[in-house]
Amino acid sequence: MHEDKSEKLYEMKKLAEAGGGQEKVDVQHSKGKLTARERIDLLLDEGSFVELDKYVTHRNDESETKKFFGDGVITGFGKINGRKIFVYAYDFTILGGSLGEMASKKIVKIMDKAIKVGAPLIGILDSGGARIQEGVMSLDGYGDIFYRNTTASGIIPQITASIGPCAGGAVYSPAMTDFVIMVENVGQMFVTGPEVVKEVLSQDVSFEELGGAITHSTKSGVAHLVASNEYDCMEKIKKLLTYLPQNNRQDPPTLESNDDPNRLDSNLINILPENPYHPYDIKEIILNIVDNHDFFEIHETFASNIVVGFARLGGRSIGIIANQPMILAGAMDIDSSNKSARFIRFCDSFNIPIVTLVDTPDICLVLIKNIMA
Ligand code: HXC
Repeated sequence: MHEDKSEKLYEMKKLAEAGGGQEKVDVQHSKGKLTARERIDLLLDEGSFVELDKYVTHRNDESETKKFFGDGVITGFGKINGRKIFVYAYDFTILGGSLGEMASKKIVKIMDKAIKVGAPLIGILDSGGARIQEGVMSLDGYGDIFYRNTTASGIIPQITASIGPCAGGAVYSPAMTDFVIMVENVGQMFVTGPEVVKEVLSQDVSFEELGGAITHSTKSGVAHLVASNEYDCMEKIKKLLTYLPQNNRQDPPTLESNDDPNRLDSNLINILPENPYHPYDIKEIILNIVDNHDFFEIHETFASNIVVGFARLGGRSIGIIANQPMILAGAMDIDSSNKSARFIRFCDSFNIPIVTLVDTPDICLVLIKNIMA
């Protein structure tokens, strides 16, 4: 009797961990993508992941959609460098990682727990959006997720990795999180795909042009960071977390620094040109000021006339905002204002002191010229 039960449990565990089945896993790998479980393993400290709701299935009639354990999303908590985080990862091998009613309930549970415990929330996105077969139940689930994105804002850090298509509802939620990191040539974020764009606007666009990492990190500003592959993506998330507190009531961690806080840098004077009309690279100044010349830039290729990012001074986390005289003479425009305002709001919410380096001819002359024209 006991043996029967444990055998059944073992079978269920095997099935749940197989995702959408070997064939789908092979397709996922052939696209150069890892599975949701492999991604979580890569992100978290070894053996720290505790999965919740592993055996949940959807409530639809099975003739409509095959049932899979987990319902297309893996949720749980674990540790990154010893610090607690909550995580959910869409499993593209199950119905394209689409979001149904039960999958949304799993994500909502993790979000509520992250807010209650006061720990960062990381979402790994690879999803076809609302599960068509579940219609309005799926849309309702998104409503619950979006609501929690807003209530968690400024309370716990929210980070999203886009590692695959993120379509429809799967793209609204990431856009509301604090940091979005996209994997080059793999992550795509769009509300609706190229075929609908063609139908409605008669425009031919590729998936990459519409919502690829380059588009979102240079034009829309939706992506804060771009990773060259999934391994780089996880490393960047881990590094980003080192600058952030667990929640808005804590301070960011202080790391031991071997960089003498009283260090003088005689090279700084050589970077600044004597003629104030000559440009220089503000990043050289930043690198020479901060601990160990280590600057973690955010939004590097978006609105580059302002530079924002994290670094350390005396081992303590700081946010840096600096005009970039190399681009538009460091003048401010709409995108750079939005970029810096957003960064300031984040630092303000999470007790991160801000260092501002100012060198700007005030508002953007190009903008004035356009207005005058
Ligand atoms: C159900 C879906 C699905 C979806 C994909 N699949 N998206 N099933 N609902 N939304 C299924 C496919 O049928 C397929 O099943 C499997 O997932 C893999 O999909 P493929 O198309 O084979 O993969 P790929 O070629 O990589 O293309 C991925 C894709 C494409 C770009 C995401 O599937 C796609 O365009 N899907 C629809 C995206 C979309 O329009 N979403 C918006 C939904 S509306 P089989 O069984 O064949 O393997 C929405 C509104 C939210 O989200 C509003 C919130 C308030």
